[in-house]
Amino acid sequence: MSQLYVSAEHVLQGGYHHATLRRLQEPNTTIEPHNIMYPVFLLEDDNAKQEVASMPNVYRYGINELIPVLKDLVAKGLKSILIFGIIETLPKDPTGSHADSAQNPVIRALPRLRAELPSLLLACDVCLCPYTSHGHCGLLTDSGAIDHAASVKRIAEVALAYALAGAQIVAPSDMMDNRIKAIKEALVSVKLQNQVSLLSYSCKFASSMYGPFRDTMKSSPMSGDRKCYQLPPGAAALAARAAARDVAEGADFLMVKPGLPYLDIVRQTKDQFPNHPLFIYQVSGEYAMISRSGESEDVSTMLMEVLTCMRRAGADCIITYFAPLVLSMISANK
Ligand code: PBG
Ligand code: ZN
Repeated sequence: MSQLYVSAEHVLQGGYHHATLRRLQEPNTTIEPHNIMYPVFLLEDDNAKQEVASMPNVYRYGINELIPVLKDLVAKGLKSILIFGIIETLPKDPTGSHADSAQNPVIRALPRLRAELPSLLLACDVCLCPYTSHGHCGLLTDSGAIDHAASVKRIAEVALAYALAGAQIVAPSDMMDNRIKAIKEALVSVKLQNQVSLLSYSCKFASSMYGPFRDTMKSSPMSGDRKCYQLPPGAAALAARAAARDVAEGADFLMVKPGLPYLDIVRQTKDQFPNHPLFIYQVSGEYAMISRSGESEDVSTMLMEVLTCMRRAGADCIITYFAPLVLSMISANK
């Protein structure tokens, strides 16, 4: 009788009973070092090292502490980092003057990183929120709304300063409309458009999952929220329009942020722009959730599943605080 339930032409298990066959069934989902970018927090005090309470195993470093850590990771395969500057004693003001001042930790660190880690690809987050007194990502009008033109001009200035200091990728996370065009034109004006890439946080949502990051960066808005410039979580159509706009304005790479709850947007964006490398930012809240999911072996297994699914959804590169763990897992598998 049991034969009744066997249908010879509908057997799938014949195709994945062996580990090697299973790899064939998962095309374009391998995780290699170039598929990973490591976000790093850079302090103003060159010799400081501080724990991040809400993110286990994540630290904020001054440049003298950061360089040896990165040298070690480069030896393990690290290919690229995304740098976030933090100021603690320099003053914050309404225009974020210290985002690109000579005392800014990112501006000061870039030449040293280029010299001491010549193979490491250096991306810089470009935003005003770590440097503005009001904590918003753009500049404000007297009534407290986003001042569009002034914000775009300021963001482009900051991006240009990072490019001139040695950044190889500038990645604006501020979400001001038209900043991609302004930054590209700024790069062209100094003949850097073919030496500095523009990674747009094109599809960045107003998420509740940035909490640990905002604590780390001390970059929460003093009043209000970011819902008037980051995308509403349900707005797939706005995400498509934002990606199209940023491609038209000259973005080299696109991004979806956060990752895991937004994998439909990742697939949508990859299908919309198959010829543009696509990044996912696995954000601080995602990191905190996975970190606390169990014993270290469970964390590693869950992480690899999540990263594989991100690749399957269409991501080419994943920005992740787990980069050191991923590198050690990749080398252990060889
Ligand atoms: C700020 C910025 C944020 C993140 C990257 N750049 C926070 C925000 O937009 O509020 C989030 C990163 C993370 O949560 O890991 N422009
Ligand atoms: Zn910001």
